[in-house]
Amino acid sequence: MSEWFESLDGIFAQLWTGLEQGVADRNAPARHPTIATVSVDGWPETRMVVLRAATRETGGLEVHTDITSAKVASLRAQPRAELHVWDSEKRLQTRARCTVTMTSGVAAAEIWKNVPDPGRQSYGITPPPGHPIATALAYEKRPLLDSFAVLTCQIDRIDAVYLGAAHRRAVFVRKDCWAGQWCAP
Ligand SMILES: Cc1cc2nc3c(=O)[nH]c(=O)nc-3n(C[C@H](O)[C@H](O)[C@H](O)COP(=O)(O)O)c2cc1C
Repeated sequence: MSEWFESLDGIFAQLWTGLEQGVADRNAPARHPTIATVSVDGWPETRMVVLRAATRETGGLEVHTDITSAKVASLRAQPRAELHVWDSEKRLQTRARCTVTMTSGVAAAEIWKNVPDPGRQSYGITPPPGHPIATALAYEKRPLLDSFAVLTCQIDRIDAVYLGAAHRRAVFVRKDCWAGQWCAP
């Protein structure tokens, strides 16, 4: 029987299983992807987030954030992001290039209803995230639907690198119906 990393279909299935595990299991590697955006002045910027949904059928990922955060300003200017996951057990790196749409206010109310209270504490910081403050704890948390934003990331391209005894790299593109292409690693 062949190993999952020996076929394009096997790698594609394995990386999606990893993303789905990230949503379901707080200890899974894909629980905390790094999401990269481009700042309004053109700098690359990365930060860790929690992966809230991963839907293989639509090729979609979901992340929640504070609407006043810098990443939201960046995504308003340039609705592009890349999510990065390294699964050290599988020896698999996944990079998902995405087009991001943002939902907030009443449109996000249904999702907000299902955010547990500890999670809500992350949305509604005063002053907004990244603002200078006089001392380390000179901020308040006022969880508010108005501060909550859902980032819906439609994956356009996935670059997967498997670092086994022989390195393998595969690229999957939405417009090619995710057919997959081997690439030099
Ligand atoms: C383990 C971990 C999980 C995090 N999860 C989120 C998250 O789900 N959403 C979020 O906006 N920030 C999350 N953060 C905070 C971000 O990494 C970042 O500091 C914050 O969003 C501000 O980023 P920005 O100024 O680039 O927008 C998390 C940080 C860590 C360390």
